[in-house]
Amino acid sequence: MTARDGTLDHKAAEADSAAELARRAAELARLEALAEGWEPGQQAVLSALKTGIEALNAEAFKRLIRSVKSDPAAMPALRQAVADPFVYQVLLFHGLVKEPIETRVRRALDEVRPSLKEHGGDVELVAVKLPDTVEVRLVGSCQSCPSSGETLSEGVEKSIKALCPEITTVTRVSRGAPELTADGAQVVRFVSPFARQQDAGWVDVCAVGDLTDGGLAVRSVEGRDVLLYRQGDQVSCLDNACAHMGMPLDGGQLENGTLRCPYHGFVYLLETGECLTVPEVQLAVHAVKVVGERVAVRLRR
Ligand code: FES
Repeated sequence: MTARDGTLDHKAAEADSAAELARRAAELARLEALAEGWEPGQQAVLSALKTGIEALNAEAFKRLIRSVKSDPAAMPALRQAVADPFVYQVLLFHGLVKEPIETRVRRALDEVRPSLKEHGGDVELVAVKLPDTVEVRLVGSCQSCPSSGETLSEGVEKSIKALCPEITTVTRVSRGAPELTADGAQVVRFVSPFARQQDAGWVDVCAVGDLTDGGLAVRSVEGRDVLLYRQGDQVSCLDNACAHMGMPLDGGQLENGTLRCPYHGFVYLLETGECLTVPEVQLAVHAVKVVGERVAVRLRR
């Protein structure tokens, strides 16, 4: 078996395990829903039974893990067992393993994000530096807000430390001063592959920080509605009009760099405008460049 075959087998086994877990969880949820119609006394008995069984299992798993950990030679096997999604989720349920640190940090940021967005700001995870440090970047209106220090310490930092007690330091990094060329011009950080070597026709549209990483925004450029999609420092710009019947795409489903039209389901790659549903058609893509903090677009005519 080749290494690639081995990886595929492993991924297939993980997918099977996750599917089996989902099937069993759905069955338990179905039984719980049935019990919702029971008398309060019956529900109390069921709840006590459930709590008792969970406590029994948790204690048994705890003792099992303690016993395995006492033999260092058995640790690789324990790690391998915990990597199985079924085992991991059950141990997680019982509080016997932690979610990966980056997952918890992202969850902590998601918890504070709505209040930052209410004021036109946002926060991005820059890096998790083990064992105890997280770097974040405040973007949008949070970058220049006089209260940004408080936002960091009272909002972002508290949220991260609550979910990740091992993190003791949360630092804010900025993009720094704009990079300059030798003759003092601002360095262009990104030019979309659709830009031709012309200087004319660029329209300043927004700041990079106004765009959520991995998210979509609609802007009107010279009277034309376009979608801006940001991935890190890269931004793509596409017509907000489906190649099928010209309907707006901004209410569509965004998933892993693709957008599904809300009307008849055509799926597009947001980086290139390529249509995955009907390869013969394509979304109109416009040139983008990012200079310092600013995003400029040049419309295709
Ligand atoms: S208008 Fe988008 S799929 Fe039909």
